Amino acid sequence: MEKWIRLRVCAIFIHCLLLLEAKLKIEGTAGDVLEDDPVGRLKVFVYVLPSKYNEDMIKKDPRCLSHMFAAEVFMHRFLLTSPVRTLDPEKADWFYVPIYPTCDLTKEGLPLPFRSPKMMRSAIQEIASNWPYWNRTEGADHFFVVPHDFGACFHYQEEIAIERGILPLLQRATLVQTFGQKNHVCLKDGSIVIPPYASPQRMHAHLLPPDIPRSIFIYFRGLLHDGINDPEGCQYARGARASLWLNFKNNPIFDISTEHPTTYYEDMQRAIFCLCPLGWAPWSPRLVETVIFGCIPVIIADNIVLPFADAIPWEDIAVFVAEKDIPKLDTILTTIPAEVILRKQKLLANPSMKQAMSFSQPSKPGDAFHQILNGLARKLPHDSSVYLKPGEKVLNWTAGPVTDLYPW
Ligand SMILES: *[C@@H]1O[C@H](CO)[C@@H](O)[C@H](O)[C@H]1NC(C)=O
Ligand SMILES: *[C@@H]1O[C@H](CO)[C@@H](O)[C@H](O)[C@H]1NC(C)=O
Repeated sequence: MEKWIRLRVCAIFIHCLLLLEAKLKIEGTAGDVLEDDPVGRLKVFVYVLPSKYNEDMIKKDPRCLSHMFAAEVFMHRFLLTSPVRTLDPEKADWFYVPIYPTCDLTKEGLPLPFRSPKMMRSAIQEIASNWPYWNRTEGADHFFVVPHDFGACFHYQEEIAIERGILPLLQRATLVQTFGQKNHVCLKDGSIVIPPYASPQRMHAHLLPPDIPRSIFIYFRGLLHDGINDPEGCQYARGARASLWLNFKNNPIFDISTEHPTTYYEDMQRAIFCLCPLGWAPWSPRLVETVIFGCIPVIIADNIVLPFADAIPWEDIAVFVAEKDIPKLDTILTTIPAEVILRKQKLLANPSMKQAMSFSQPSKPGDAFHQILNGLARKLPHDSSVYLKPGEKVLNWTAGPVTDLYPW
């Protein structure tokens, strides 16, 4: 199709959307569970650990407060003042171990997950020797926040993460993690999948009036190749981002590039579809940003498990495109009926959806902290089988790579 025809088709399409929107009253309601109040449904005991496991790491590198893994820090701070906290461990349903395994950063600010297993092991030893609760269940009523790329597999390269598997000492614990992919060794049954952290203040500062017209059809800014870590260009994003570029770089309905403009957040509010392709991991903060900015996420990450999937109706909000169908993306998106688009936009405009994706400062009802608590509450009561008989041992303290056993 000629360039000008495409542009015209696109303009007509957007115009029709606006007309339809004016005519139809399309209802958008969130899943009711998003509004659950966890207070009164669970009690959490927060261990007091030496500051080397948490606060000292922030002092060493305050970037841990703003990067996409910061949920590990903010969840700790949230729980310290939450009404679900109990100071009496005998009354606790859940035990929380406040450790920041993703806060060991390189000079460039990238997390080094290699030391996390040693750090985790050391913290577990600490609580197991000072309190009776770990040994009672060997962690089955404990939870950890492990937001790194592949969760508690603690490596950023997928093959190595798979080879390592989840840290043996965490086999019985509940993991609150960003990584989610079906049938993957790094996502344990019963884990709680959370959104990555994106600064609510920063997003809020870029909010435009909600009636701003959405004149961009398909938007994406981000890495399309990772020349440093993947010089041959076939591993990064399993080739998905390279394929996007190859197929659509000259297509006028696609506004895609590697530049990161200062108007990035404003642009998302002017776009109908925002592409969320996988990167090294299936997820990225883009998913949070698209929901906050009401741009329909186009999720291109086969088998992804999305945050709070038992509470957020992702199928209704987002568009899912298989990685192999990237070459057909233009047809897929231009043939979605306008009513369907409007319905998704209405759902995205629902404040409870946005709240669930935010680690609000200070916390607000229904935000990501509350959704984590709701997830923990829904797992109660613990099955009696989690309590071990006196002297019974399940975990193997010497399993895993030898280097993980060195002191931290
Ligand atoms: C719990 O078990 C570990 C490992 O067997 C042991 O070292 C520790 O002393 C036990 N803790 C308590 C409080 O008995
Ligand atoms: C624990 O794991 C180590 C290393 O894989 C293995 O050699 C040992 O036999 C295991 N112990 C038990 C009790 O299964």
